[in-house]
Amino acid sequence: MSIAVAPSPAAIRLAALPPLALYVHIPWCVRKCPYCDFNSHQAKGEVPEAAYVDALVADLELALPEVWGRRVASVFFGGGTPSLFSAASIETLISAFRARLPLAPDCEITLEANPGTFEAEKFRDYRRAGVNRLSIGIQSFNPRHLAALGRIHDDREARRAIEIAKDSFDNINLDLMYALPGQTLAEAREDVQGALEAATAHLSFYHLTLEPNTHFHRHPPVLPDDDAAAAIQDMIDAALEGAGYVHYETSAWAKPGGECRHNLNYWRFGDYLGIGAGAHGKLSFPDRVVRTARVRQPRAYLEGAAAGRAVEERRELARADLAFEFMMNALRLAEGFPPGLFAERTGLAIAVAEKALREAEARGLLERDHERIRASALGQRFLNDLLQLFLPVRSS
Ligand SMILES: C[S@@+](CC[C@H](N)C(=O)[O-])C[C@H]1O[C@@H](n2cnc3c(N)ncnc32)[C@H](O)[C@@H]1O
Ligand code: SF4
Repeated sequence: MSIAVAPSPAAIRLAALPPLALYVHIPWCVRKCPYCDFNSHQAKGEVPEAAYVDALVADLELALPEVWGRRVASVFFGGGTPSLFSAASIETLISAFRARLPLAPDCEITLEANPGTFEAEKFRDYRRAGVNRLSIGIQSFNPRHLAALGRIHDDREARRAIEIAKDSFDNINLDLMYALPGQTLAEAREDVQGALEAATAHLSFYHLTLEPNTHFHRHPPVLPDDDAAAAIQDMIDAALEGAGYVHYETSAWAKPGGECRHNLNYWRFGDYLGIGAGAHGKLSFPDRVVRTARVRQPRAYLEGAAAGRAVEERRELARADLAFEFMMNALRLAEGFPPGLFAERTGLAIAVAEKALREAEARGLLERDHERIRASALGQRFLNDLLQLFLPVRSS
């Protein structure tokens, strides 16, 4: 079952524009991790920090007409490793954003940080610069696994970074991965224990995946098999829920009220302006939804932004893609979505997805009443199977 593509891409009509977020990509890391396919590049020599800050501001300036007058609900500095940048640069950027866009008074401003000593020394200054949420890439507390993952920090530095972060931030996320090379259930449990001891507002546990174009893809390590990975996943869920965290999205757990507002906006199919090398964006207009991508290579981006050509791709979403992309985000949330949100965000009647919704329900992958549509427990576990049902069929 799938959604039939309308023969002509008739315009959509949005009654109101969704909330807007700002994503800022910093594309450098000290070293490239062997599993990582993000647009991150090993910093060779000095990172052109000042030039990149100028490029980001130029990039934003050119994008302003597309978001004119809209309030920004959250800002996310992602990477790469944003904590390579000085607090002064982050402060310059936040001031530049405030001068050009109305940031909500309670704007969530997150920065992704690596737990190296060099980074942790800057945490307090990031807080002073206006960052109010820190997301630390811990990955594991096991020194052997950290080494296998090619991380530049050890477990002691990871624990120390969390302690330092807690002195300045009360809104902290830790990123961890599971189903690591050679990882046992007992080892995964120790990682969960380490995360729980940190008692942060938010935890992300990602199933390690072998992404194309990574060192791990070319030289695959031995990973826990599907059953072992599923057992680890169940253990994580039980332990975190037992400790008062709510499993609100596929890979995200939060203490009540500690959900990541920036990511929630993605999953509710909100808008985001993405600036920086390779950054993706999604912007709605009364009659269309547009996806954008910035020039990917940092050098080319620097040149492009200076010349007013930071955007590499701009693509209007077709009706059938809109329905699929909405589901791809909203069905990741445990709470699912109220049926009215579909029309609000896509400009389409939920009836366009009715066949696929029925099929998903019949297969036990989806539950719905008049208030909510959500993935069932089975649908959450086999999310790809569920989403397949919403894929558009294209007639050639
Ligand atoms: C863009 S990275 C940024 C964080 C920071 N650079 C770091 O690594 O500490 C965001 C998170 O994605 C997760 N991640 C990256 N590659 C992954 C993969 N192949 N499989 C699962 N999770 C991955 C990691 O947990 C990482 O912390
Ligand atoms: S996982 Fe983080 S530190 Fe490692 S290469 Fe990717 S973005 Fe950089």
